[in-house]
Amino acid sequence: MEKIGILTGGGDCPGLNPVIRAVVRKGYNEGYEIMGIKNGWKGLIEGDYMKLDLASVSGILPKGGTILGTSRTNPYKKESDIQKVKDNYQNIGLMGLIAVGGEDTLGVAVKLINDGIITNIVGVPKTIDNDLSCTDYTFGFDTAINIATECIDRLHTTAESHHRIIVVEVMGRHAGWIATEAGIAGGADVILIPEIPIDIDEVCELIRRRHNRGKTFSIVVVAEGAHFKEGSMIIQEDKVDEFGHVRLGGVGEILGKEIEKHTGYETRISVLGHIQRGGSPTAFDRILGTRFGIRAVELIKEKKFGRMVALSGNKIIDVDMKEATKALKTVDMELYKIAKEFFG
Ligand code: F6P
Repeated sequence: MEKIGILTGGGDCPGLNPVIRAVVRKGYNEGYEIMGIKNGWKGLIEGDYMKLDLASVSGILPKGGTILGTSRTNPYKKESDIQKVKDNYQNIGLMGLIAVGGEDTLGVAVKLINDGIITNIVGVPKTIDNDLSCTDYTFGFDTAINIATECIDRLHTTAESHHRIIVVEVMGRHAGWIATEAGIAGGADVILIPEIPIDIDEVCELIRRRHNRGKTFSIVVVAEGAHFKEGSMIIQEDKVDEFGHVRLGGVGEILGKEIEKHTGYETRISVLGHIQRGGSPTAFDRILGTRFGIRAVELIKEKKFGRMVALSGNKIIDVDMKEATKALKTVDMELYKIAKEFFG
């Protein structure tokens, strides 16, 4: 039986287990043996893997996280790790690999193919940030915006009762997709995203205008990567991960203080953090993950290596993984314009 490997890398997100389940079931139907590589690229460096049979994926569809574990390990950080990746791929006896991840994990896949280390890789786009190019949606995003929307709903009732401003900081790294979509769905009064620098005077004016209309509370949604016109991104610490990313976070705190100072309205800050990545995937993400997983096995069977499964409208297509990882997909300004219609 030919063996296909699957790994999940980068930040976890709801929908990973549906992908794994679909790959195993489709693989079984097509006569492949599926090997689960543990903890992303780290597992291929260390030769840490497990055989995935039908029993091992039974019941995982509604579970958040990933049964394979994940890491932010970059094998390109150390020359000797690349050789280990190559050796372990061969030792496990793989004929193909399905890499499930975002720009970092899939970026490594593209490099491995280009360098001739492992050529038979296909990609599956994952991230709550929805910032991968060439696909309308990544799985995990829908769950994240549903969680964030529910949180905004809950914050609405307390903001209204106390006549307060509540600033809600959401994730999304350098793209404002979560802020924009959860903000629209949750009826936020101001939505601030990394794509448009924050003008604090404008934000305060919008809130004042709303209060002058008789509203005694406001909800401001801010993406963690948003920054002030005159400043740069706010980070939690200087340390970078193996892919050179800083840890974002803290803009909500600064923004809240500025709003209170300028408007005099009592303000509270709520940082949603990893809650957005946890728990059971929505039906949308379970279905998208399942469709992606099935198509990924088909791509391996068709030997369409270097391709990434993607969603275009409601169709599952495949795209060049190199193109998909070249540049971040930032917020569609037509969508943001819709959000703006409801500001203030
Ligand atoms: O990429 C997903 C994401 O949740 C980002 O939105 C966030 O900036 C980052 O990961 C947080 O990473 P970590 O889980 O390593 O703190």
